[in-house]
Amino acid sequence: ASTRRYTFNVTMATVTRLCVTKSIPTVNGRFPGPKLVVREGDRLIVQVHNNINSNVTFHWHGVRQLRSGWADGPSYITQCPIRPGQSYAYDFRIVGQRGTLWWHAHFSWLRATLYGPLVILPPRGVPYPFPKPDREVPLMLGEWFNADPEAVIKQALRTGGGPNVSDAYTFNGLPGPTYNCSADTFRLRVRPGRTYMLRLVNAALNDELFFAVANHTLTVVGADANYVKPFAATTLVISPGQTMDVLLAAAASPPAPAYAIAVAPYTNTVGTFDNTTAVAALEYAPLQGAAALRSLPPPALPLYNETGAVANFSAKFRSLASARYPARVPRSVDRKFFFAVGLGAAPCRSRVNGTCQGPNGTRFAASMNNVSFTMPRTSLLQAHYQRRYGGVLTANFPTAPPVPFNYTGAPPNNTFVMHGTRVVPLGFNTTVEVVLQDTSILGAESHPLHLHGYDFFVVGQGFGNYDAANDTARYNLVDPVQRNTVSVPTAGWVAIRFVADNPGVWIMHCHLDVHLSWGLAMAWLVNDGPLPNQKLPPPPSDIPKC
Ligand code: C2O
Repeated sequence: ASTRRYTFNVTMATVTRLCVTKSIPTVNGRFPGPKLVVREGDRLIVQVHNNINSNVTFHWHGVRQLRSGWADGPSYITQCPIRPGQSYAYDFRIVGQRGTLWWHAHFSWLRATLYGPLVILPPRGVPYPFPKPDREVPLMLGEWFNADPEAVIKQALRTGGGPNVSDAYTFNGLPGPTYNCSADTFRLRVRPGRTYMLRLVNAALNDELFFAVANHTLTVVGADANYVKPFAATTLVISPGQTMDVLLAAAASPPAPAYAIAVAPYTNTVGTFDNTTAVAALEYAPLQGAAALRSLPPPALPLYNETGAVANFSAKFRSLASARYPARVPRSVDRKFFFAVGLGAAPCRSRVNGTCQGPNGTRFAASMNNVSFTMPRTSLLQAHYQRRYGGVLTANFPTAPPVPFNYTGAPPNNTFVMHGTRVVPLGFNTTVEVVLQDTSILGAESHPLHLHGYDFFVVGQGFGNYDAANDTARYNLVDPVQRNTVSVPTAGWVAIRFVADNPGVWIMHCHLDVHLSWGLAMAWLVNDGPLPNQKLPPPPSDIPKC
């Protein structure tokens, strides 16, 4: 194993998309940001210098951060933000993970432009468990806003309403020919008969996405830096935060010189969404001119609300569960939680005109077990390390909703949330099960839940209300997929299991940024174990102060 060093200079840079030229936060002047490449077992040191007029932090999405919680990055959870002019070095190891992850800013909505791929190769000499592809291509799916995303979320929080939606979906930052005034298209040049591995990342702020390549079947081989049993699919579903490694076999004698690669949203969102389709080109021979790109026939994609297609797809994921890559699924659990997850409302604060633009004149909020997460003003991990809890957090996050109701039926009378920075303390090595149930209070909606510091096993999922007696008996405890982000199905539930073997404070939140802004988050506080190698080390000397 070696040490890989990178420098991130956070600077403003001028870019033009959809004929809008603006100055955006970038890493090293690039959009999307640089690709990081490591091998499993390596140590990674990323020195960040903040040269923009905003706070910033970086999160290495999906990296387990074993005993390196100080490097995890969510602002006010594991660190105070890096202020303008300040620096911080993220220093961590990649242990037991291989495949594709990514990095992104974890302060407000800055990840709209501050993101890039993190490629984890197997240790030297260790092959993939599938035939080696001829080429590997990181492909980041994103969202482009003509407006400043920071202004968009600030305005939404001020008015209590839903934010404006993005103007385009992008492939490695490029919107492509389906949008007016779009100058550049992502082109993937392929040779007949060769195999390509797409390292897909959904970096969009607020949309789950369908992905397909016209006339080509894809083979899924990995998800969230875990290998999976290979399976074929014509359409993929990728939630924000999720990554997927897929093999694309180029035709031996392609009937056409080029094919469309397309993404479009999957949503039952409460409110508006970016209902556009973005296209990139898979080229056997280069296409000449924008008209040729525009006339590529798009692949057939499901309708934006086709939940059945999503459920079929997500049910196909299985761990390899092989001798070399065993699935260590917890067979029994020490603590079982039921989290009702969804949107709700909060009373309107005083307004110029006395009303808010959320449901029935309230403001939008989101919660788990009716607690809407309040960002603290200092870092939870620092408070925990110094055993200085008073006023910073309360260790009383509820294990179940205050009042159970029919989660997929009529909403309860009072849809107001309560606020707090509540955490669940866990003893070291506790085996945890969490059932995440969509509440459907303001309409059924899918929520891509992301857990920091852990990969969890997805042991069950279904529609309707979770039924402990019957659903638990049907769990897959043999080869469930292991991931860091899973969607709570629309009007349904998902059950996850993990072993709390990583001391620290770990946020679990909806990876739709608007829901995170509305409070759809909680945190696990995992205590140290008794042995020296089970304790959180002291913070690095350059950790930012609040
Ligand atoms: Cu990818 Cu807390 O985030």
